[in-house]
Amino acid sequence: MQNNMPNPISGFSKLSKSEKIDWIVSTYFSNKEDAKSLVTQYWNTDKKLQKLHDEFIENTITNYYLPLGVAPNFLINNRLYTIPMAIEESSVVAAASKAAKFWLDRGGFKTEVIATEKIGQVHFMYEGNYKELETFFNVVKPKLISEAAHLTKNMERRGGGIRAIALINKTKDLENYYQLHATFETLDAMGANFINSCLEQFAQTFEREAKNTLENNIDIVMSILSNYVPNCLVRAEVSCPISELKSKDIKHPEVFAQKFKQAINIAEIEPYRAVTHNKGIMNGIDAVVLATGNDFRAVEAGVHAYASRNDSYASLTHCTIEDDIFKFWIEIPLALGTVGGLTNLHPLVKFCLELLENPSARELMQIVAVAGLAQNFAAVKSLTTTGIQEGHMKMHLMNILNQFEATAEEKLKLVDHFKTNSVTHSAVVAAIKHLRS
Ligand code: MEV
Repeated sequence: MQNNMPNPISGFSKLSKSEKIDWIVSTYFSNKEDAKSLVTQYWNTDKKLQKLHDEFIENTITNYYLPLGVAPNFLINNRLYTIPMAIEESSVVAAASKAAKFWLDRGGFKTEVIATEKIGQVHFMYEGNYKELETFFNVVKPKLISEAAHLTKNMERRGGGIRAIALINKTKDLENYYQLHATFETLDAMGANFINSCLEQFAQTFEREAKNTLENNIDIVMSILSNYVPNCLVRAEVSCPISELKSKDIKHPEVFAQKFKQAINIAEIEPYRAVTHNKGIMNGIDAVVLATGNDFRAVEAGVHAYASRNDSYASLTHCTIEDDIFKFWIEIPLALGTVGGLTNLHPLVKFCLELLENPSARELMQIVAVAGLAQNFAAVKSLTTTGIQEGHMKMHLMNILNQFEATAEEKLKLVDHFKTNSVTHSAVVAAIKHLRS
């Protein structure tokens, strides 16, 4: 193994795209021609479009496809939406569509943005007297803001900007450690660049002024936004009289409502379940976040931190049954943008935003929260009624058929066959064999 290890390569990023592919295939692949033709097969024939995608990151060799699906019939605050979802998991879009249709007939989703505050911090070390630092901070604070004016001017004109800067003493947790903890309003921008630029400017001003004023210097460690945004919060809710839950799959609405609530209560107190429960929510959230060109890693990190804000990791959704009314809701932090970043660059992101009627960031927060709630409703409904595998495997059927390179005719026959038979991997394999024998 050790003997076959390739040599390190220097100057890789300077190679052309073809040279990079040649190096990769000749270093790692036994069938070099096949590997190269697979990678190049995914290049877009429109050279300009391909170049745009190539330049999003470094060392691009090709495009990595994910399906972009849509889930129609989402009634949100009495407005109908078709929600775009970029995701590979076979059952997610179908589940979202089903949940949308279910609630369309029961008043739809109601949403509200609770707050839109973003956070950034300058982390620094200081060995001197705290009172002196505090006095210095209060004096220098207006300068922190005024010297960032060239960065904040446009944002302020539109109603956003720096909302507050506080000095935080963290020396109880870490010796000599302090922060400038700043809050921002970034309107329709996700705001990462805006916030980070402001923070780096604060750090510069702060360090320079400290040198002239304080006995002990401050030592800046780093300046960076936080993806933990508990005050960039949105709520989405569905509710209806229990009797109205009756449907094709819900024969006994009272039993269903109770069991559904129990499932939510379990996820509220049991971390092993809560993680999977929230993963189901993120199936919906991430798919829309990705389709609209937002940073799903930032959203994921922030959401899971929020889910752990109390004593232990817990469900993001909640349910009550009061006076015969079934109510189910989510409260979730979402720092999203509908301008800047990929939103102006990626043609499919632009397409998805137009499909959503070019929402503001606040509107997008509400749409994304609804996608999460709908996804969770669909999952918990399946889990507490038929079990998850029925729907999952039905949707997975096409993947198994494709693994066996089923023809269009075989697919038609087998999809028909599995309308009335349980889908398991072995049952599909047996049915293919039978068909082909
Ligand atoms: C699968 O991707 C998601 C579920 O496991 C979520 C859940 O269990 O609630 C079905």
